[in-house]
Amino acid sequence: MQKKTIETHMAVYRFEELDEDYRMLVEKAKEQVKNSYVPYSHFHVGAALLLENGEVVAGSNQENAAYPSGLCAERVTVFYANARYPDVPVKAIAIAAWTDGHFLAQPITPCGACRQVLLETETRFGKDIPVLLYGTESVYVLERVRDLLPLCFVKDSMQ
Ligand code: THU
Repeated sequence: MQKKTIETHMAVYRFEELDEDYRMLVEKAKEQVKNSYVPYSHFHVGAALLLENGEVVAGSNQENAAYPSGLCAERVTVFYANARYPDVPVKAIAIAAWTDGHFLAQPITPCGACRQVLLETETRFGKDIPVLLYGTESVYVLERVRDLLPLCFVKDSMQ
């Protein structure tokens, strides 16, 4: 028997310390929380994707009376980006959450299903997608989606 350890590395910034393009992307994610449709959770999430063609695609969570039919901001946004620009890799993603009248102090991290979907986009284009998770006190920056999903299942797992 042997034991293995999997480590995840991330940088923790204050918003003001981010590069300008990352600050811009976070601002786009923050703007989106107002477009959430969240009559059930009242938890607003915004996501923004920077594409290699310079476009920013942004979206928000959309809920449903049949709860599982709703969708998180990350999947709404990445599915739209891939549907609209099927050949354009994603350069970075930013996520922000707002509830009770304010953005959260510490970032939220994407749910398991969103991690899996984001990872498909990362592997599909063969390019790491940095992930920016916004909080008013800290912004977590991961170099790639893969780091959010250890022991993942991807296309190559079937070979
Ligand atoms: N939600 C997101 O949009 N993204 C996340 O990363 C976590 C959760 C949404 C789903 C639901 O509309 C609400 O937040 C509460 O779970």
